[in-house]
Amino acid sequence: MDMHIALVPGDGIGPDIVREAVKVLDRTAEIYGHSIAYSEVDAGGVSIDRCGVPLTDEALKTAAASDAVLLGAVGGPKWDHVPGNLRPEKALLGLRSGLGLFCNLRPAVIYPELSEASPLKPSVISGGVDLLVVRELTGGIYFGEKGRGDDDRSAYDVMRYSAGEIERIARKAFEAARLRRNRVTVVDKANVLETSRLWRETVSRVAEDYSGVELDYMYVDNAAMQLVRNPGHFDVLLTENMFGDILSDEASMITGSIGMLASASLRDDSFGMYEPIHGSAPDIAGMDKANPIATILSAAMMLRYSFSLEKEARAIEEAVSSALSDGIRTRDIAGEGDMVVGTAACGDEIARRLS
Ligand code: IPM
Ligand code: MG
Repeated sequence: MDMHIALVPGDGIGPDIVREAVKVLDRTAEIYGHSIAYSEVDAGGVSIDRCGVPLTDEALKTAAASDAVLLGAVGGPKWDHVPGNLRPEKALLGLRSGLGLFCNLRPAVIYPELSEASPLKPSVISGGVDLLVVRELTGGIYFGEKGRGDDDRSAYDVMRYSAGEIERIARKAFEAARLRRNRVTVVDKANVLETSRLWRETVSRVAEDYSGVELDYMYVDNAAMQLVRNPGHFDVLLTENMFGDILSDEASMITGSIGMLASASLRDDSFGMYEPIHGSAPDIAGMDKANPIATILSAAMMLRYSFSLEKEARAIEEAVSSALSDGIRTRDIAGEGDMVVGTAACGDEIARRLS
């Protein structure tokens, strides 16, 4: 297969980790007889420095013209002083909405090899943690009208959802649940928010098309609590944009291995953008210390969702597991007795185990 991938390394450790994912992708392509063409795209702080804006039209066009996008991370303290509408994070939001990527999949799993890294008690995670946050990504308060009034002494951000926006993400969640453990938990604030009440109405209607998938509802405050009290309850957690942002950080932390977690942002065709869940870690940028595994696993998700290359995606996931079983660890996930390797060596070890 011929693949055209746009690379958005971004800021901080972004270039370090994207380089390793490319190494693994190239090796996979070599073994399985595919060819990959890459275009590099600036976005985030690096684009602010070079072009004065976090995302140029040209960058968005290049990304849109590819088959899939692999992104490292954007942002850092260097750009903290820039005005809100020019912040590096705007690049991410611009890519998500400009590319129509409404469906964000954020799996959180505890790797058996790393279960000691979870901050939760063994008794709480003994049943395992394997959940998927399905976050609506192009609507809600992130993209609603915002502004200031009263001579800057008041401000507002509008949360708005249409039934259509809710329905399309709900279908993605139910479809994902069918390939997992057949349970969807809708997380909202329906005791307070009108948008949440529309979510409930809409999701319960969509659920009729997915018999066999169990549906429950949870208020977001309770969900934040249940995630640390009984994370095994969750299979697919379906929620709106901002709740999903918050809960996916919480979910990733309970696995203890945020450096391991990948994500996909999708729409209804095969196009997608793939990125690690973690941030740009500017303090260790360029020092060969970052964990490239989340980005490598994001590349595996890309092969699976955008190119339907299941065998190749599995091969990457197995190479990662095999490196972990052999005790290969970057600093962030190392325990006593583990072999600590740098970013590049970690990528090498994974690429070497591909077959
Ligand atoms: C995320 C990030 C972004 C978000 C920021 C950087 C805009 O926190 O991808 O979760 O809030 O969506
Ligand atoms: Mg976030």
